[in-house]
Amino acid sequence: MLANTTVLSLKKRLLHPATKPALFALCMVPIVWLAYLVATNGAGANPQEYLIRATGDWTLRFICIVLAVTPLRTISNTPQLARFRRMLGLFVYFYVVVHLLSYSWFDMGFDVADIAKDIAKRPFILVGFLGFLLLTPLAATSFNKAIKAMGAKRWQMLHKLVYGISGLGLLHFFWMRAGKNNFAEVFVYAAIVAVLLGWRVQQYLGKKRAVAQQIRAQAAI
Ligand code: HEM
Repeated sequence: MLANTTVLSLKKRLLHPATKPALFALCMVPIVWLAYLVATNGAGANPQEYLIRATGDWTLRFICIVLAVTPLRTISNTPQLARFRRMLGLFVYFYVVVHLLSYSWFDMGFDVADIAKDIAKRPFILVGFLGFLLLTPLAATSFNKAIKAMGAKRWQMLHKLVYGISGLGLLHFFWMRAGKNNFAEVFVYAAIVAVLLGWRVQQYLGKKRAVAQQIRAQAAI
């Protein structure tokens, strides 16, 4: 009884107008923290490299968080969580843009020709750049007007790109770490993404089975 009341009040709180700004502030914590570390010489001997890597990590973390919204919403029967998905998705884009800008500035001095050469030369950069390119239409169509103009079905189809993007992000990370033979973190992220995508595959197959069963039952009448 007490547990039920607590869950109900938690679900109500998710609809409170202050919840979204609070989540926004929480999503800003990593970038503010990174800026603080860099400004106070707390980012190690090579703050530029630290920033490139840390923003790459946060891009991948936000991809995992976005992928976790639907399973969490379904398993905990909390449809209220859906209202945060768009903001979380835009934070994936925010962190990848800061990641790309850090690389373009600190590694490449904003030299577009050098960046283009590097993308063509290093496969792990190409894969990361592809991930960024695929994220761009998702960010650009995350507004109500775009959803209306595209129609819900086409919009949903387009946003399925996030599965491919998570694969590209993992491959980018794996390739980068291959040179150092250091895969521990890559495997942790790969396991998280596999569980989250595995849940979706299971749901999809379950729905297909239920429809097939319904058709069989109707045919038997
Ligand atoms: C979906 C898009 C992307 C994701 C998820 C992602 C993720 C990551 C991750 C997790 C790392 C490793 C951080 C660590 O070692 O802890 C990384 C490193 C890096 N990424 Fe990305 N990245 C993406 C896109 C890009 C793009 C567009 C570029 C540049 C064109 C880029 C360039 C780099 C570079 C230069 C490094 C550091 C390599 C090094 O220090 O040796 N990434 N990225």
